[in-house]
Amino acid sequence: MFLISLPALQRNTRLLRQVKEAAGCQLVLALKGFSCWKTFPYFREDLDGCCASGLWEARLAHETFGKHVITYSPAYDEKEIAELLEFTDHLDFNSLSQWYRFRDQIMQHPRFIDGKVLCGLRINPQCSTGETALYDPCVAGSRLGITADQLQGADLTGLSGLHFHTLCEQNSDDLETTLAAVDEKFGHLLRSNQFTYLNMGGGHWITKPFYDRDRLIRLVQATRERYQVDVWLEPGEAIAIHTGVLRATVMDVFESAGHRLAILDISATAHMPDVLEMPYRPDVFLVDATIPSNSNQQPAVTIEGETYHLAGDAGESPHTYRLGGPTCLAGDVTGDFSFPRELRIGDVLVFDDMAHYTMVKTTMFNGVPHPAIALQHEDGRIETLREFRYEDFRDRLC
Ligand SMILES: Cc1ncc(COP(=O)(O)O)c(C=O)c1O
Repeated sequence: MFLISLPALQRNTRLLRQVKEAAGCQLVLALKGFSCWKTFPYFREDLDGCCASGLWEARLAHETFGKHVITYSPAYDEKEIAELLEFTDHLDFNSLSQWYRFRDQIMQHPRFIDGKVLCGLRINPQCSTGETALYDPCVAGSRLGITADQLQGADLTGLSGLHFHTLCEQNSDDLETTLAAVDEKFGHLLRSNQFTYLNMGGGHWITKPFYDRDRLIRLVQATRERYQVDVWLEPGEAIAIHTGVLRATVMDVFESAGHRLAILDISATAHMPDVLEMPYRPDVFLVDATIPSNSNQQPAVTIEGETYHLAGDAGESPHTYRLGGPTCLAGDVTGDFSFPRELRIGDVLVFDDMAHYTMVKTTMFNGVPHPAIALQHEDGRIETLREFRYEDFRDRLC
């Protein structure tokens, strides 16, 4: 079961609200990171809307969140543009060829003529500040965003915004570096009266305790003053980080070639794909109130009668297991973890921080049952938001 904590979600969105109010900018939820729409009524007041990666997310934003919808996609087709023009508020383009292809259609639309839909270009400031190439839209040959040289001499009639997204899990010092590159390469456009908004994308780790929020506020204020533009931020991860877990049950335990294995009812490839794609090692807890907290080298915490024992790396605690999923993929393994006691069939293991970029990426590979989605309220009550049935699996396939 994916279990989302409502108080944790609201703690994040309230903090984001304080930041955006202090900075005087707008801040929207990036649906690609978290789109569990039944939770939206609980924090809609804190945010200005959503940003979408294309038509379907934009529709979801419009139908379930309301407020402002920002749409940016690497490419659109005619049908998508026609539908988006009916409700999106910002429509950002990834290339000049896409913009020129649809410009006439857009500029003749009543919502464009009335100023209800504004169009922008995603720019690439060619300023890499992150460490992982997979998440770096500024790598040489990137397909994401327009470089300054591509814009030289271009006809920009009809555009009013610039949009960059170059950060991933980063602090505001990297934003400062990026803004200097944006100014050097695109500052002349932002200083012209034509451009009225600058979207600074996502990747801002605003709700992390160490994030320098004061610097973000200063940077946004300075940007607004320097160019006289509206500033938009569109974090995804910062909204849902530390708000949800994936609870798994041990289905089988056995040994193979000297390794102890545990098969769980959840899968790395189907339910936590970033564990394999990024890759990363999630924190895992064994739930057992009978183990004395001090019998394990790893920390334990008791929440509402359940005691969670943090699993160590292989060999750190007495009993090491390779945790695997129920699919056919040989590499459907979350990793080797050690526990204070032997694992047993029926044990509950909890994978931490599985709300963002996890629930949105799940599949039903192998017909493995999809975990239910539940919301834990302030008073501890658990509300099931969605349970998945065989028919959901069947109906996805044709
Ligand atoms: C254009 C754009 N905006 C916003 C985001 C959200 O980023 P994050 O969840 O890291 O804040 C992304 C993530 O890939 C993105 O591509």
